Amino acid sequence: MNDTTGMPASAVVLGGDSELAAAVLAKLAKRRLERVVLAGRNEEALARRGAELSALGVKDVRTVHFDATDHERHDGLASELASELGDIDLVLVATGALGRTGSDELTGAEVARSIDTNFTGPAAALVGFARVLRRQGHGTLAVFSSVAAVRVRRANFVYGSAKAGLDGFCQGLQDELAHARAGVRLMIIRPGFVHTKMTAGMAPQPFATEADVVADAVVRGLETSAELVVVPAALGPLSVLMRLVPRALWRRLPS
Ligand SMILES: NC(=O)c1ccc[n+]([C@@H]2O[C@H](COP(=O)([O-])OP(=O)(O)OC[C@H]3O[C@@H](n4cnc5c(N)ncnc54)[C@H](OP(=O)(O)O)[C@@H]3O)[C@@H](O)[C@H]2O)c1
Repeated sequence: MNDTTGMPASAVVLGGDSELAAAVLAKLAKRRLERVVLAGRNEEALARRGAELSALGVKDVRTVHFDATDHERHDGLASELASELGDIDLVLVATGALGRTGSDELTGAEVARSIDTNFTGPAAALVGFARVLRRQGHGTLAVFSSVAAVRVRRANFVYGSAKAGLDGFCQGLQDELAHARAGVRLMIIRPGFVHTKMTAGMAPQPFATEADVVADAVVRGLETSAELVVVPAALGPLSVLMRLVPRALWRRLPS
């Protein structure tokens, strides 16, 4: 169970090789994290992340195959991991991929895959894990959305619209969980541009930051039972302004 400071003893990470997730887990390992399941597609990469966590003192680190687009598997996986771990204090959802942009070059299959990876897949997994947490009567779902979800930009409209879908889904699930008073909460994390392997080789956006800074904000969010973490914090008020910019101007902003 999460302790009084919101720190988990057990965690499941969907997208277990994510650099942002790894930075969060490294911080939680210094607190009271004891049991972790890294769920993802690349076994070698998961094993490497697992070894890093063991070196940081996490006693029980496991890996499991997880493909966000394999929807039929999610409910079963959530139940299996709950039985294996005994209790799941934290489910960190970190799957995502930027994909290509430019409607001229995109294929329909690419668009569908991007929306599945960034929205449909994580959403389908979330309901299974939310049910498991509700049954145990406690736990936190923490989901990586993005500032890209605040207002969809032409520069990355496929990724941005998928994240907007996931963000809206999470807001609805947050409300449902709060209404049910099931002891389960959901925290939405909206980072701006972060230097990780996802953004490698890209020109940094304004307010670009590092994984470590995001991880600190996530841990603070867990400690304070935050419903929304925007990082860097300056992007919070900017997000409000972004929604107010007239369409004609928004369309012309540099990508
Ligand atoms: N970095 C940023 O600037 C930034 C900003 C805002 C939000 N975010 C969000 O933060 C989260 C973590 O991103 P990150 O920066 O840590 O990037 P990352 O290191 O590339 O992590 C993304 C993870 O998603 C996994 N993934 C992709 N498609 C998958 C699928 N179908 N099934 C299972 N796993 C899949 C990748 O695993 P594979 O190796 O199997 O592809 C990878 O481990 C993502 O949701 C991202 O959208 C990132």
